[in-house]
Amino acid sequence: MEIKVTTRQRDYSIFIEHGLLKKARSLIGEGFNVFIISDDGVDDKWISILLDQYPDSPLFRFNHGEANKNLNTYRDILSWLARNRANRHDVIIGIGGGVVGDVAGFVAATYMRGIRYLNIPTTTLAQIDSSIGGKTAVDLGGIKNIVGAFWQPSLVLIDPETLSTLPSRHVNNGLAEAVKMGLILDEKLFELFEGDYESHLDEIIERSLILKKEIVEQDENETGIRKLLNFGHTFGHGYETVGEGRYLHGECVAMGMMTVLENEEIKERLHKVLQKLDLPESCECDNEKVFSIICNDKKSAADGIDIVQVDEIGKGHIERWSFDRIRRKLG
Ligand SMILES: NC(=O)c1ccc[n+]([C@@H]2O[C@H](COP(=O)([O-])OP(=O)(O)OC[C@H]3O[C@@H](n4cnc5c(N)ncnc54)[C@H](O)[C@@H]3O)[C@@H](O)[C@H]2O)c1
Ligand SMILES: [Zn+2]
Repeated sequence: MEIKVTTRQRDYSIFIEHGLLKKARSLIGEGFNVFIISDDGVDDKWISILLDQYPDSPLFRFNHGEANKNLNTYRDILSWLARNRANRHDVIIGIGGGVVGDVAGFVAATYMRGIRYLNIPTTTLAQIDSSIGGKTAVDLGGIKNIVGAFWQPSLVLIDPETLSTLPSRHVNNGLAEAVKMGLILDEKLFELFEGDYESHLDEIIERSLILKKEIVEQDENETGIRKLLNFGHTFGHGYETVGEGRYLHGECVAMGMMTVLENEEIKERLHKVLQKLDLPESCECDNEKVFSIICNDKKSAADGIDIVQVDEIGKGHIERWSFDRIRRKLG
């Protein structure tokens, strides 16, 4: 399947197909140097399949994990590119999860004022969410994504086979974002999780991507409708920060959705889905700290925060909540 994305920066295609990685070169093309970036957690098997097609290409693998999504890694990669005389006609391929995508994308956005970036996402989170939208960033001083740029990829290749080596905790972590998409935009997508979702993984990835594409095309810089994607993220962000690495991002979104939802019937349906996915529903953390993080978030206004709410599955909307109301919700 091919999904064409149109943005102000450039148009590009996302291809989704089992076994796609083996024919990456035929889609990427020739006549330029390729620089491959990954981390050491991505299964070697996938890197080898890519390297077999680009035997002379330099490969940079940094230590895996959010803690390495930082300026040191970023600088090391820039130095490596410069040492290897990468130029503006060359191409960077990021192969890995959201961490690799964010770092490699930010490198591509800034090296020589921007060079072509190709993304091969290998986690559910990256395939469903982070590989589309053009957001790239690294963390600084404990603040996530504080240094970054909007830089659209030139091509995204999704091979669902790569998920076969991903630990189940990470598989489910990424699926939390698809559950979110279903709740705010697509009842059918949510219902897939209520059934035998494992046999519909491809459809889940495709539906989520199409939804995100439509939102991003309408609102590239996150000033309007794209805010809907923040469902579960306001409280989730608080849990993620206070949890200090205990919880993964999608797990925090899962807990954040449960905290914010007010419709009991929808909450019950979500509870059943999260149980199935082995995702946490409430955070064992200091709510006073969570509240303080939410209040200091860059998205908060003087009189409160825009919160995404769902009263009918597939139809998210935005409400302004006072800080008092947020505090009460945390219990
Ligand atoms: N740019 C965006 O729009 C956007 C959106 C959401 C999240 N993010 C970012 O994404 C990051 C999280 O991404 P993630 O959940 O993919 O985590 P991740 O990139 O850390 O990957 C999770 C782990 O799985 C390993 N891995 C990756 N692919 C594998 C495979 N096929 N087989 C085995 N192991 C594999 C990785 O090495 C890592 O250890 C966060 O930094 C978050 O801020 C970005
Ligand atoms: Zn998210």
